[in-house]
Amino acid sequence: MKLNIDADRITAELDTLAGFSDVAAPAVTRIVFSPVDMQARAWLKQQCAAAGLALREDAVGNTFARWTGSDPALPAVASGSHIDAIPHSGRYDGTVGVLGMLAAIRALQGAGYRPRRSIELIHFTSEEPTRFGLGCLGSRLMSGTLEPERAASLTDSQGATLDEVRAAAGFPGAFHSVQLAPGFYHAFVELHIEQGPLLERTQVPLGVVTAIAAPATLNIEIEGEGGHAGAVLMPGRRDAFTAACEIALAAEATARSTGAIDSVATVGVCDVFPGAVNSIPSRVRLTVDVRDIDEERRDGMLANIWARCEAVAAARRITVRCEVLNADAPAQCSPLVTEALQAVCGELQLPYTAMVSRAYHDSLFMSRIAPAAMLFIPCRGGVSHRPDEFAAPADVARGALVLAHALARLAE
Ligand code: GLV
Ligand code: MN
Ligand code: MN
Repeated sequence: MKLNIDADRITAELDTLAGFSDVAAPAVTRIVFSPVDMQARAWLKQQCAAAGLALREDAVGNTFARWTGSDPALPAVASGSHIDAIPHSGRYDGTVGVLGMLAAIRALQGAGYRPRRSIELIHFTSEEPTRFGLGCLGSRLMSGTLEPERAASLTDSQGATLDEVRAAAGFPGAFHSVQLAPGFYHAFVELHIEQGPLLERTQVPLGVVTAIAAPATLNIEIEGEGGHAGAVLMPGRRDAFTAACEIALAAEATARSTGAIDSVATVGVCDVFPGAVNSIPSRVRLTVDVRDIDEERRDGMLANIWARCEAVAAARRITVRCEVLNADAPAQCSPLVTEALQAVCGELQLPYTAMVSRAYHDSLFMSRIAPAAMLFIPCRGGVSHRPDEFAAPADVARGALVLAHALARLAE
């Protein structure tokens, strides 16, 4: 089958989507259920409807756009990703998987193809953890990995619960209704930029993902004693921020010390209270993101950070509360899907490499309920979660082309 992917159209759509943002271009900030996210959702639904897809939304705002197959009773083949974007990020993370899927469907339609199984585009709610502290909210609920009660009570920095926020956004149903039974989908594929440098460095245009690394997030609250920056002498101080610094350095040290290149730890949030130049910090909140492709090694790093928290608390006479927000198992991708992707690459004579995803994705959770795998395309310099994130139109189109052919294979 000859398929035509309209690269210019995807580029234009990525541009339009990037315009729904709370910061000036080229940076993108699109936090889940913010006004710009709601505008982006509305625009995306229009595009899906224009392609003749049947729309459904669930209680957490996951959006499903279905191209009904000739045998609609069969489990569907699905593909998709997210459109929310972390603060000051770029325009390709997640969006390539959503708009690339739409382009793949249009190409199949344009070729006169008619699927046997239904083919479904999924836009997942809040893959990014920015607002509620926990990533992949949509796919966690869909896969039954997140308790509906816990989901409902997640709060944002303003104290609003996910339950309230999603209802105000127009998604009032029961959280437990989001869960889909294993077998609901025949297969799931996610197209995504690599977010690392390997494809570009080796000049291989495609990566077939065989495993996804295990992520964990800690929320650490440190309480010391505030006071006057001039009058309180150094020997008596219980500075919450310098304690936090020790913990942050310990997180870095544990990740550096495993001997594995796959161990990483990042302190991405540090809120200092009261945050005045002449006031000793009395409270600090840190988040620590810890990952590895080996779950045991990842858990070893968590244990080391926790031990360091206790030691710092004792030595500095402060209190440290350390909460595990998530500690997820890694995922193995399904041969059903990786073999379909590899077969298509072979047929189209496109070089590919098997690789591990060090970032997490909705596929991590979809793999709990469906045979799942991912397809990576290169991004410039391996850069992601930054405004200068870039994927070449030809690479995006190639990814969509392989996705389209793989969907057709899986839908037979
Ligand atoms: C996804 O955005 C991740 O942080 O891996
Ligand atoms: Mn991301
Ligand atoms: Mn992403």
